[in-house]
Amino acid sequence: MASLTIRKLDEGVKTYLRLRSAKNRRSVEEEVRVILGELIEGREEPLTPFAAPPATSTASPSQRIGAVPVASITLIIGGGIAAYKSLDLIRRLKERRIEVRCVLTKAAQQFVTPLAVSALSHERIYTDLFDPQSEFDAGHIRLARDCDLVVVAPATADLMAKLANGHADDLASAILLATNRKILLAPAMNPLMWNNAATRRNVAQLQRDGVMLIGPNSGEMAEAGEAGVGRMSEAIEIATAAERLLRPPVPRPLAGKRVLITAGPTHEPIDPVRYIANRSSGKQGFAIAAAAQAAGAEVILVSGPVDLGDPQGVTVKHVESARQMLEQVQAALPADIAIFAAAVADWRVANEGEQKLKKTSAGMPPLQLVENPDILATISKLADKRPPLVIGFAAETEHLIDNAKSKLARKGCDWIVANDVSPATGVMGGDRNTVHLISKNAENNAEITVDSWPVMTKEQVAIELVAHIVKSVTGKSLEPAS
Ligand SMILES: Cc1cc2nc3c(=O)[nH]c(=O)nc-3n(C[C@H](O)[C@H](O)[C@H](O)COP(=O)(O)O)c2cc1C
Repeated sequence: MASLTIRKLDEGVKTYLRLRSAKNRRSVEEEVRVILGELIEGREEPLTPFAAPPATSTASPSQRIGAVPVASITLIIGGGIAAYKSLDLIRRLKERRIEVRCVLTKAAQQFVTPLAVSALSHERIYTDLFDPQSEFDAGHIRLARDCDLVVVAPATADLMAKLANGHADDLASAILLATNRKILLAPAMNPLMWNNAATRRNVAQLQRDGVMLIGPNSGEMAEAGEAGVGRMSEAIEIATAAERLLRPPVPRPLAGKRVLITAGPTHEPIDPVRYIANRSSGKQGFAIAAAAQAAGAEVILVSGPVDLGDPQGVTVKHVESARQMLEQVQAALPADIAIFAAAVADWRVANEGEQKLKKTSAGMPPLQLVENPDILATISKLADKRPPLVIGFAAETEHLIDNAKSKLARKGCDWIVANDVSPATGVMGGDRNTVHLISKNAENNAEITVDSWPVMTKEQVAIELVAHIVKSVTGKSLEPAS
């Protein structure tokens, strides 16, 4: 993951960040994190740091910035010295547009005041199981179920013992027993308490019951001179863990599948400084690699020289020539699916100069060309290690469908993705593509289907192609993202 050095930013950007972070009482780094989060979530915080909220607004700060809560958490604050950190946790969760309803144990109220908690959460707080005001409609059940996650921070030894043993004699423990939501505990206690045999038993039981734990961390204790494991995780760690648990599970239909992809052009040397190349940018192959990775596949991308960053989570082998590409492709086998999107040069120079070719009075040196290995045909016709699904690309400038159909037959692959790369289409090097998926019927190989897709971005083509692969390999439908 890349890191950002604030110092190196433009003066104008730094001034903006300083003003905005001062206004929001955050560090500059925190402010950058919040801005990035908002960008990803499409949040509409005004970009001027001092833009005033509408004069009539009575909404909470998160509502004022146009943010609808994305999730809700019931936060149980236990009676430990780390309870002060739960105040920061409330803020961190609200920054993430998470609604927080807080429950304080009797002991917790010795460490933080209900007033501070309710001021930060912008909600009334809950303390009593036998509270006629909230129990008229079984308030403890609502607190247990009308949320997406229950977080306990700090989780005291006492609260963990109660939950592990099914006690429900106060509001916090009754909620923990009555909930059907995931529970995240952030334990905090003295290292001797944490290592006590009873606590160890309770923790093991809670883990068996599917309760999730974050921390505790190791470090200095509040008690003078004591250190060890028992410090509650930092608020930001707990908020991040909670956010992760709140995210809907991402479908990973290609989990366990190995996908081999080629992309980009090849460079065929003429001499040590010159080469024959083509205009392929590699964007389509890289987009397919990213889409396959997002679908859960293990992806190996063999790329010719391109100007693109490696897609995250993908193993990338960088090569120059067609022969190197074939070598890397063969080394990457076996694979379940192979997608050959690279624009491999058909020919290379037979008489490659060992030194830079010089102009001479004899005129231009004759360049003799020889055929390069045909990667698609070689892999499609393998007797053993042939991937069960082999997909080629056909870049044509005329007779697109006919040429692609005959390529499908000639090469022995299963599908061809045909695209028109005439200069007028702007496909080579551009961001959009219009493709036709030409495939053999699984039952009757002689039957060819042509599926013509509308013009799309290369990312959309990649997602659509991966959706077709998922359907073919697993029989399941994957809704292509719009
Ligand atoms: C000053 C002080 C600090 C305490 N800190 C902790 C702590 O960090 N972790 C813990 O498990 N218990 C701690 N305790 C003990 C709990 O407050 C006690 O077990 C209480 O019954 C917990 O109640 P609860 O689990 O309902 O919140 C502390 C007690 C005192 C007096």
